[in-house]
Amino acid sequence: MPAFNLSPLFLLFVIFAVFLCGTFCLADWKSPAVNPLDSSILFPVKGNVYPLGHFTVSVTIGNPPKVFELDIDTGSDLTWVQCDAPCTGCTLPRDRLYKPHNNVVRCGEPLCAALFSASKSPCKNPNDQCDYEVEYADHGSSIGVLVKDPVPLRLTNGTILAPNLGFGCGYDQHNGGSQSPPLTAGVLGLGNSKATMATQLSALSHVRNVLGHCFSGQGDGFLFFGGDLVPSSGMSWMPILRTLGGKYSAGPAEVYFGGNPVGIRGLILTFDSGSSYTYFNSQVYGAVLNLLRNGLKGQPLRDAPEDKTLPMCWKGSKAFKSVADARNFFKPLALSFGNSKKVQFQIPPEAYLIISNLGNVCLGILNGSQVGLGNVNLIGDISMLDKMMVYDNERQQIGWAPANCSRPPKK
Ligand SMILES: *[C@@H]1O[C@H](CO)[C@@H](O)[C@H](O)[C@H]1NC(C)=O
Ligand SMILES: *[C@@H]1O[C@H](CO)[C@@H](O)[C@H](O)[C@H]1NC(C)=O
Ligand SMILES: *[C@@H]1O[C@H](CO)[C@@H](O)[C@H](O)[C@H]1NC(C)=O
Repeated sequence: MPAFNLSPLFLLFVIFAVFLCGTFCLADWKSPAVNPLDSSILFPVKGNVYPLGHFTVSVTIGNPPKVFELDIDTGSDLTWVQCDAPCTGCTLPRDRLYKPHNNVVRCGEPLCAALFSASKSPCKNPNDQCDYEVEYADHGSSIGVLVKDPVPLRLTNGTILAPNLGFGCGYDQHNGGSQSPPLTAGVLGLGNSKATMATQLSALSHVRNVLGHCFSGQGDGFLFFGGDLVPSSGMSWMPILRTLGGKYSAGPAEVYFGGNPVGIRGLILTFDSGSSYTYFNSQVYGAVLNLLRNGLKGQPLRDAPEDKTLPMCWKGSKAFKSVADARNFFKPLALSFGNSKKVQFQIPPEAYLIISNLGNVCLGILNGSQVGLGNVNLIGDISMLDKMMVYDNERQQIGWAPANCSRPPKK
């Protein structure tokens, strides 16, 4: 009984606390307008899924400044640039490589520890230079050393910053083979860890630790760091699964085809802008391919095994000029999250098909088991086209909304 017998003093305290909270806590939650961190950095994005196979931003680094075209990769943490240390496997002319100048990060610095929070650090002594090696899902890799240099950036409110940021100076690169796109000047690693440039910027209190990208189906788009460009309504949100360190994964999800569930459940999905195409594990890939093939019965499309653009291509009665010409032969896919199935990630035909240079329509969903991805399901660029994708590292959630990505947001 005593547990329910609240003393008047306690009640008074509760009422007082509610009153205080009503005035201040809500004000705190609801008034982004007075948040000093309500600024962003907006980058124009170049690229497309096909034929280029990547989306990039230009980042200026160092003094004198050099411009690097970096592949936007939410599937890895480290930002690195091709570096004249000297270099093996670099593709840029030597005068466009980054030149280190006694600015290495030491093993004892927090940034080095952050980079190795999920893996074994090669460091033996805190004064050693912080070496790294990153390997990508396509078996490409970069070996190098962490350095620090000013990175000039303009906030959306007009303020220009030049924070000293840490990144990799990559002096030994390997391409992932014929499947992978030609090497860009480096990679902008935007994963969910303390080592990314976005996290460093938020630790310096310049922007909130939120980032987003919007890739247009017509090519190009934009990327941002910070919270104020996130639409205040219309977003679908899912929590980031903490079990998959460093990756933006959500789930479990169920597959819908043409608006109906097809009995494939329990998918964990990783949103990875470093992958041009979407990869499903063998079982899901097989099921989706069957559904698509059944849907094509009686339609004027034939298998086109002679087209090697992607593993699965179809030829129409005449050459297709754009996905819009072929989309009506295909049904939309969707991934449905949570128990209520209310949170859906729509994948319309234009988010899983490309038109090859031979005028055939090809499936941009690939068999992950065939490229050694095992059970991982990757949502690649193709399925994120024409969507605002937001990775909120503060609230640990991923959000999306349909968007016109050829129009940069105004604020
Ligand atoms: C722009 O935003 C930054 C960080 O939020 C702030 O430090 C700066 O004073 C702002 N500049 C202007 C001109 O409002
Ligand atoms: C996917 O790839 C795996 C490994 O190569 C293979 O065993 C499987 O048959 C493939 N699945 C389909 C549906 O092609
Ligand atoms: C997207 O915005 C661009 C530029 O403002 C405009 O030309 C285009 O028609 C828009 N597309 C859609 C589908 O609204």
